[in-house]
Amino acid sequence: MEVENRAGLLREIQRLKQERDAVILAHYYAKGEIQDIADFIGDSLALAQIASKLDAKVIVMCGVHFMGETVKILCPDKVVLVPDLEAGCSLADSCDAADFEAFIKEHPGHTVISYVNTSAAVKALTDIVVTSGNAMKVVESMPKDEKIIFGPDRNLGNYINSVTGRQMVLWDGACHVHEKFSVEKIMKLKAEHPDAPVLVHPECRPQVRMLADVIGSTAVLLKYATESDATEFIVATESGILHEMQKKCPEKTFIPAPADDSTCACNECSYMKLNTLEKLCDCLRDLEPQIHVDEAIIDRARLPIERMLSLS
Ligand code: 13P
Ligand code: SF4
Repeated sequence: MEVENRAGLLREIQRLKQERDAVILAHYYAKGEIQDIADFIGDSLALAQIASKLDAKVIVMCGVHFMGETVKILCPDKVVLVPDLEAGCSLADSCDAADFEAFIKEHPGHTVISYVNTSAAVKALTDIVVTSGNAMKVVESMPKDEKIIFGPDRNLGNYINSVTGRQMVLWDGACHVHEKFSVEKIMKLKAEHPDAPVLVHPECRPQVRMLADVIGSTAVLLKYATESDATEFIVATESGILHEMQKKCPEKTFIPAPADDSTCACNECSYMKLNTLEKLCDCLRDLEPQIHVDEAIIDRARLPIERMLSLS
């Protein structure tokens, strides 16, 4: 299908959405134009919570593959689409299920907590799933002496260890976007904008978190930016979040923190940006590409996700 102009494309998406009885979800890191047309936008936790309550026949997840899998696990009878199946995640990829299983075997007697940024197969090996929005709360809900394996994000894991005084055993994974924020460049921005609070996602390295005024999930950072009296903010998470920050606070200035190795001013997740309006339109028309998860994996992965939802 050729849709000639952008207005026509947007109309066609709306038409197909009605025809298919579909709901469009978008993560804060999705392209701004996708966030604008979505029925719901949110962080990983909010999107999982919303998906678990939807009646629609079709759910389009404008995020990355593991987010589509989470929706499919929660709603196995629905058609779940991700506009571009190549939208993966370096953090999820840093934790292969067979290797994680061996790691668990090396640490008997441990409760396994996995960040939502994992494959369905890793979730199936997990006792409880968490997101950056509730990880601290879930860990704190466990007895102090509980032995815990936390995977796959070593940065989120060592952040929780440092705040709670726990010694969770950490899987050595990381997100290629959040690992790259530059201490030097953020220090320079701080010197230029001394009144700007620094907002940092917990997937960032400890040396970046040390520069933070606020550490939290994308939803927490957005809430802070909205409620704070400050007028300028330095934002160290994927730069897609600036779209919603700017929409909610048009009078404030949001300065993206740059990566170490980039010449541009911000830090983008190339996977998230693979989803485009054209692909969104195509997937609603074709009902492809769909997310499929093996039934046995769904059976095992559902409980750890539901545990997370009930604790949030
Ligand atoms: P949150 O939505 O939990 O802030 O997650 C960040 C992330 O890396 C999603 O890919
Ligand atoms: Fe994965 Fe990092 Fe992209 Fe989030 S920002 S989807 S953790 S690669």
